[in-house]
Amino acid sequence: MRKPVIAGNWKMNMLPEEAVTLVRGIWQEIEGHDKVEAVVCPPFVDIPAVSELIRNAGMAVGLGAQNMHWEESGAYTGEVSPLMLKKFEVTHVIIGHSERRQFFGETDQGVNRKVKAALAHGFIPIMCCGETLKQREAGETESVVVNQVKCGLFELDTEGARSVIIAYEPIWAIGTGKAATADDADEVCGIIREVVSRDFGDEIAQAVRIQYGGSVTPDNISELMSRENVDGALVGGASLKPDVFAGIVRYS
Ligand code: 13P
Repeated sequence: MRKPVIAGNWKMNMLPEEAVTLVRGIWQEIEGHDKVEAVVCPPFVDIPAVSELIRNAGMAVGLGAQNMHWEESGAYTGEVSPLMLKKFEVTHVIIGHSERRQFFGETDQGVNRKVKAALAHGFIPIMCCGETLKQREAGETESVVVNQVKCGLFELDTEGARSVIIAYEPIWAIGTGKAATADDADEVCGIIREVVSRDFGDEIAQAVRIQYGGSVTPDNISELMSRENVDGALVGGASLKPDVFAGIVRYS
């Protein structure tokens, strides 16, 4: 059985004090709801305050970063290393979000290096993939996503592959209010599972969790989660309000 994982990607939102208030509010609404793994991914500068809150209050909430460099230290101006995140008990790291690929030039090879580094440091990578509207309209969804997943997972060992969370986020659905239909999300998540099965075997493919992301709300989460291959969600805008994010975590 795959435990559903609902992660909030706050993107570049929330000052540290707002972050603490948000996590407190979320926890009030989801405490005891342990059928789902809940993760919050604040900006780097919020991580110390959120980490302290989670630890002191004993909250069963994962703490994710939104990016990470693959090296432990060095001359990489503006970057944050795995060792730095480890200090604050970060558990998950989003890697290769389409906004990082689009605006910051991230490549499949870079994503692969980061996934390997994340695993080597004991983080759970949330590795993102997804096609643009143009690619979907040209019938390229499958080839684009298959290529991103194969490259991202390149040369992982089976245990590494097992712990990666893959987030399928069609770019046209991000922040647009136009989520993929549950059937479309399920179809692509199923294709991703087949890729994992071909490269790492069926046992790993059945264990790997695959999220859908893109305009997820409390209104569409239940239908998305009812599908065989959708094991959770990566939530942007709807993760910034405690009651709305909690409504997604408590979908069932
Ligand atoms: P929205 O939920 O705002 O569409 O964002 C999705 C996303 O990019 C999560 O990583």
